[in-house]
Amino acid sequence: MTKPTIILGLESSCDETAAAIVADGHNVLSNVVASQIKLHEKYGGVVPEIAARAHLEHLLPVLESAFEQANLTRDDIDAVAVANCPGLTPALIVAVTAAKTLAWVWQKPLIAVNHVHSHLQSVLLEKPSECFPALALIVSGGHTSLYHCANPLELKILGRTIDDAAGEAFDKVAMILNLPYPGGPSIEKCANNGNPKAIRFPRSMLDKDSLDFSFSGIKTAVLYHCRGQNMLGEDRVPAMSDQEKADIAASFQAAVVDVLVKKTIRAAKQVSAKSVMLGGGVAANTALRNALQQRCDQESIQLFIAQKKYCTDNAAMIAGLAYHKLKANLLAPLSLEPQAQGA
Ligand code: KG4
Ligand code: ZN
Repeated sequence: MTKPTIILGLESSCDETAAAIVADGHNVLSNVVASQIKLHEKYGGVVPEIAARAHLEHLLPVLESAFEQANLTRDDIDAVAVANCPGLTPALIVAVTAAKTLAWVWQKPLIAVNHVHSHLQSVLLEKPSECFPALALIVSGGHTSLYHCANPLELKILGRTIDDAAGEAFDKVAMILNLPYPGGPSIEKCANNGNPKAIRFPRSMLDKDSLDFSFSGIKTAVLYHCRGQNMLGEDRVPAMSDQEKADIAASFQAAVVDVLVKKTIRAAKQVSAKSVMLGGGVAANTALRNALQQRCDQESIQLFIAQKKYCTDNAAMIAGLAYHKLKANLLAPLSLEPQAQGA
């Protein structure tokens, strides 16, 4: 039997400090995530400087736990991988600096990974499948993108949001409804008791063939619904019943899911895709998972979805994508820098 290729992944692009050890790109030996939700919830979003300071505090304990859980030492590691883009620069720099240092001290190859692209790899963690070529929808807090993927390394962007990302819309609507941060899981929980047909929020499809997304209109529609047209009325949310809030959450979620599913199927048809992959934080949403599954079944398209535990940010997906880069000898120099942007 050949020895597996074992990669240490590090991730600090937003508000999760994460380390994971993954064998052969899919076998997760450990996956440790330190969340900073408590630190940012009072601001209703991530504050980059606070995130960076917390990453500094969490990184070493998270790294040690990853080795402990995997029952491995640094001698077992074949490469060190890190997400160097896109993300908040003060946050990214923590894991990037740690990864460069470890690669240098341990004399291991360094691999730089695009965080958004790695969400695709989360689909294959623990269950490697023959899913390429595929059409992929990545829905996160910062990105909503459709790609045509020939393989894990060849991603061609077909469409992206022209304003808010889907996760960002969930987070902003949760703020409007005074629901706890992060907004996605709060909206989903609240929506479980609501009627998705109670309010018909707009579904922005853009041009007939467009694969781009726009979610700022629906967010504004929720705002006007709660505070009156052009926000000239009183904020009705504090006086709303739980049922009224649940109906708004369910109707908003239904509108976002509707657009995501329609555009994904539109894209799959345009490129004649036989399989669709779904990843990113918003992919944890059960309504989205079920609706896309139903439409893919109707179109005889195979759907591959990340397990819920791997949808939100983690380092296992970083190590997963790094495996393919290592095989292709796509190594990073020790002068690697974080980059805020990256498709
Ligand atoms: O991928 P991710 O962890 O971080 C980024 O790369 O942005 O995604 C975070 C986003 C947040 O906007 C969060 O509200 C959303 O994913 N999210 C959800 C759910 N869980 C997380 N959105 C809808 N339903 C969920 N269950
Ligand atoms: Zn992410």
